[in-house]
Amino acid sequence: MISEIEERGGRVSFADFMELALYHPENGYYSDPDPRYGREGDFMTAPTASSWYGRVMARFLEELASLTGAVTLVDLAAGDGSFLVTVGEALGENRRKVLGRVVGVERSPAMRCHAAARFDNLCHLVAQLDHAEPAVGPVVLHASELFDAFPVDRVIAGEGGLKELWVAVEDGMLVWERHPAPSALVSYFMGHGVRLAAGQVAEINRSAAAIHRAILEWAGSEALVLVLDYGYEARRLYDPRGRAQGSLACYHRHELSRDPLINPGRLDITAHVNWDDLRLPATDLDWQELGVWPLAEWLVRAGLPEVAEAHGLGMEADLDAKTFAARQEIKRLLDPEGMGSDLKMLIQGKGRVGERARAVLTKKAVPEGTAR
Ligand SMILES: C[S@@+](CC[C@H](N)C(=O)[O-])C[C@H]1O[C@@H](n2cnc3c(N)ncnc32)[C@H](O)[C@@H]1O
Repeated sequence: MISEIEERGGRVSFADFMELALYHPENGYYSDPDPRYGREGDFMTAPTASSWYGRVMARFLEELASLTGAVTLVDLAAGDGSFLVTVGEALGENRRKVLGRVVGVERSPAMRCHAAARFDNLCHLVAQLDHAEPAVGPVVLHASELFDAFPVDRVIAGEGGLKELWVAVEDGMLVWERHPAPSALVSYFMGHGVRLAAGQVAEINRSAAAIHRAILEWAGSEALVLVLDYGYEARRLYDPRGRAQGSLACYHRHELSRDPLINPGRLDITAHVNWDDLRLPATDLDWQELGVWPLAEWLVRAGLPEVAEAHGLGMEADLDAKTFAARQEIKRLLDPEGMGSDLKMLIQGKGRVGERARAVLTKKAVPEGTAR
């Protein structure tokens, strides 16, 4: 990392540092041939924490496809493939009725390689969405922890105005440097109606809105987008009472630290999503927001109780070791002190697919004559 920064003149913006730390082709965190996350790794995501996440999604897709016909399913940031593999397994013989084309989009060649080994012709894997064939028919795009893995800019507010934090090499060590913030960062906060307090640190995901716009445009006019991530709307994300030091977090072996300059390339680095960044392009392109729900609420609305019942885990279930283990796995996703409330699902829909998804998620009947 030090020589990479020296080659770039001895200093880089924090976004460039994070890009190198996570995605450098040889030394980046996501370039390791073994996935770094999941139970054996540094942190868990919902699809890697429990196969019940994929099972519930499979049930939701079955219900949706019964109203729309088979859907194209796209997993953005397919990672180690856990999501698509568990959805495919849960659908079993029903897969052909429910899913048309299945696409995994993953930027890391190492992760693509790992996922490909598990897919067994289940899906097409591409490095970026615009490498996939254009969408036809109803589309469902799913993205779990895509946006919180984007490089972010970092700023600190002070008496002399907003300063951007850079990373520099000094005597062979990585150190922070302050530079006057460019006008794009200043206007980002003005645009969101946010005033940072003196001394407050904040992160800005400058590519989120543009990338989300490209995702919505690719999806077309009959589509549903499901974004699972850690985040808040701007007003809360940048509230100095809750997040005076920003939301940047680093994970190694399930331990949290706040200093990304220690051990870069060996730590995951993540920053919370500003949901408003994803709302702006949606409003612009005339998409409807169906909800932004804690993971636990999403799972219940999408059919968790019915899936558990179908697997013999209802109230009447025997309390044997198998039932106990399955309930523990489900509990991990529902945990009100963890994933169940911290992770949120943003659901945006367009056209009749959006309306059908709303009907499934709110258990409302689809109006007569509108099916398919
Ligand atoms: C935290 S992991 C989440 C993986 C998976 N979605 C899950 O929930 O288990 C983030 C993943 O996003 C991928 N990624 C980051 N930026 C991306 C982009 N622009 N397009 C596709 N994948 C991306 C990374 O390579 C990494 O595999």
